[in-house]
Amino acid sequence: MIEVKNIKKSFDGRVVIEEVSAVMKAGQCNLIIGASGSGKTVLQKCMVGLFEPDFGEILYNGQNFTAMKGEAKTEIRKEIGMLFQGSALFDSLTVEENIMFPLSMFTRDTHKKKLDRVNEVLDRVNLTGVNRKYPAELSGGMKKRVALARAIVLNPKYLFCDEPNSGLDPQTSMVIDRLIKEITLEFNMTTVVNTHDMNSVMEIGDYILYMYQGRKEWEGSKKDIIFSKNERLNSFIFASEFLQDAKDMRMLEETGRIPNHRNMDEMTGYRETDRKQPGSE
Ligand SMILES: Nc1ncnc2c1ncn2[C@@H]1O[C@H](COP(=O)(O)OP(=O)(O)OP(=O)(O)O)[C@@H](O)[C@H]1O
Ligand SMILES: [Mg+2]
Repeated sequence: MIEVKNIKKSFDGRVVIEEVSAVMKAGQCNLIIGASGSGKTVLQKCMVGLFEPDFGEILYNGQNFTAMKGEAKTEIRKEIGMLFQGSALFDSLTVEENIMFPLSMFTRDTHKKKLDRVNEVLDRVNLTGVNRKYPAELSGGMKKRVALARAIVLNPKYLFCDEPNSGLDPQTSMVIDRLIKEITLEFNMTTVVNTHDMNSVMEIGDYILYMYQGRKEWEGSKKDIIFSKNERLNSFIFASEFLQDAKDMRMLEETGRIPNHRNMDEMTGYRETDRKQPGSE
């Protein structure tokens, strides 16, 4: 579990994160969503210690990571896997060398043992046998999977993914999302995913933190999103008229009630008097 407590971060006097708190549990996909520039990446970087917050604390399984120094901090860092925005693979290294990199940094394992582990994670992301390829020879979806393999190679307890779907088509995105979800469950990891992909939210969002201009505007589950009356969240998630209609239909299905913020007659072409009341047959 990761606890974010009242985080504030500014750059050169400009506040970009303010009063953000959240509890992100193990075995679930915790999503940070929000428009471009809302502070998702900065928040994630504060969580993993790449940025030092001006105020507030980050706790990993109850331990105050923010207050830690030296060895203790390194120990937590070893338990964190990261998939950076844009994959961040080393272009001059092969897939195998890229994935082996954290193993060489943090373990004293033999080459044979490291290679076995590399092959294990490559199998896990369905990329068996691509060891000798260079990043430039891979498709966008393959690069993301290699980056995911590298992020999990040390068996992390905590997995951070910054925009794992950016630049991918919807189907490939779903493959990546499902892989992240499966791995999270399989290893009971606390997974934190930054995204502005509506499909990801609905596919894997166990807990969702919606950021708006550096602040937490809303939090809840993907089911809560369907019923949320937060206007900023709704216009962000259900940006198109089509998706707004889909949300309203889903609400009607679940509750039998017509959402009051929309004119259902307009949507369905029905008049109120056409609708049969329950038991009126
Ligand atoms: N190193 C930095 N120095 C100064 N300002 C920064 C730095 N990193 C981010 N910012 C600012 O912080 C704000 C939040 O940026 P951030 O990268 O967290 O947004 P984001 O929500 O991840 O956006 P995107 O969806 O485009 O990735 C932006 O206004 C950005 O300009
Ligand atoms: Mg970002």
